[in-house]
Amino acid sequence: MSSATMSTTNSTTSIMAAPATPSTVGEELKRSPAIIAAVDQILAEVRTRTASITGDRPANPGKKESYEALMKRAADVRGRPLLYPYVGSGAGNGALVELADGSVKWDMICGIGVHFFGHSDTENIRESLLGSIDDTVKHGNLQANFEPHAFSEVLLNEAKKNSRLKYAYLSTGGAMANENALKVCYQKHAPANRVIAFRDCFMGRSITMCQIGDTSEYRQGVPLSTLVDYMPFWDAVEAARIGKAKFIDNAVAQLNEYITRYPGQHACFIFELCQGEGGFNIGDRDFFVALMEVCRKNKIAIWDDEIQTFGRTNRMFAYDLFDLGQYVDVFCVGKMTQACATLYTEEYNPKAGLLSGTFTGETSTFRVGQRIVERLRDGNFYGDSGLFAKHHAAFREQVKALAARHPDWFPAVPSLGGSGDALAGGMGGMMRFTPFGGAKDKITKASKAIFEEGAIVFYCGHGPYHVRMLPPLPVMKMEDWPRVFACIERGMARVV
Ligand SMILES: Cc1ncc(COP(=O)(O)O)c(C=O)c1O
Repeated sequence: MSSATMSTTNSTTSIMAAPATPSTVGEELKRSPAIIAAVDQILAEVRTRTASITGDRPANPGKKESYEALMKRAADVRGRPLLYPYVGSGAGNGALVELADGSVKWDMICGIGVHFFGHSDTENIRESLLGSIDDTVKHGNLQANFEPHAFSEVLLNEAKKNSRLKYAYLSTGGAMANENALKVCYQKHAPANRVIAFRDCFMGRSITMCQIGDTSEYRQGVPLSTLVDYMPFWDAVEAARIGKAKFIDNAVAQLNEYITRYPGQHACFIFELCQGEGGFNIGDRDFFVALMEVCRKNKIAIWDDEIQTFGRTNRMFAYDLFDLGQYVDVFCVGKMTQACATLYTEEYNPKAGLLSGTFTGETSTFRVGQRIVERLRDGNFYGDSGLFAKHHAAFREQVKALAARHPDWFPAVPSLGGSGDALAGGMGGMMRFTPFGGAKDKITKASKAIFEEGAIVFYCGHGPYHVRMLPPLPVMKMEDWPRVFACIERGMARVV
């Protein structure tokens, strides 16, 4: 605004109605009727074309050679074959995804929890298209339009309802969100240089996160520089065996032992309240409260990694499942939100310069991420009788029926508490079941055979292993479950 205009405006505001806010070219572009009509036309075309995807189907034989050539090109650039022979065609319909060989599969893993609203979702595509007209593809920390801040605002508005989390710093991946969380904890509690983590946890693949994560294969050859003390995770079977109070007392004693051994040296305790990679193990409020109280007393940051759990349990935030929001100092989210974020309280707001980086993400990512949080907020998804709990019950019914048809596929697993209901677990959109006694080789073979039979699943756990599903619950229909399990049954039959 020129100084002449400014002074005119200032001198007249007291006697005239405020003038209409002038538009920028950017604002005009975003509400341009021509662009909105073009977007609507694209979405109508996507809807029409993808409506023909209505169920799983085998590959088109005419595509066999070209698909194999794609697989080979992918293997040549990666230096190893793809784990699953998966190359998407770019189209799908809800829980169904079309591959480049023309086959259609039930996507029950969704990029390990990324595509929670399924495939060819036109609300997401709309936001993505509108995001694509921006002047740049990426936003940075130095120069950004407003979309990254709008995304943070929507996320924080939800987080603030039941926690003290106040600020957000964005990143492009979960491991980086965790790296930032760890820096925040280290700075606040400097010079403390140790971390406490749960057995079987997973935190991503950066040099530090693979050292904290409790899987030795993921850090082969990586020099160890991070000092980690491991705690047992909640184990309902063991707690029932020795008594809940005793189980919790033992854990508190172990935590106190670490604190006594390394006084003032722990910067944080990382809580994954429902373990993902570790086996979809669901925690317990009393257990967490006992440990968090010890952290409070000893000035150890409570860091909640919800990169896998966010949005998909029976509450938007897993800390709300256990009513723990007031304990959380630092929090991470990613995967289904598309953009990743580290949230922290006023107390943990780091000094300038600790967190930065060239990119924060793309307009399309932020617009889609914002819409996803709004849809989660506004849908009937949560609560003990919400849609996700209903889907989870339908999943368990399917496992029960499968086990009744094939009892020999489901031998008892003592560490899970036996057989029957014990062999289906998780919560909401984190679903696991445990055939073949939890044997890794059979479960990985079954996952591959199930893929060939028309459904994409994965595995989790560190023994027992489980078949793992992260389905796109908001777009799944109850009548999809028997169709998904028909593929699972055919796949499992091939490995027994
Ligand atoms: C709990 C948890 N933390 C961190 C990560 C790492 O996220 P990313 O793979 O986006 O780096 C994951 C990914 O699976 C996760 O499940």
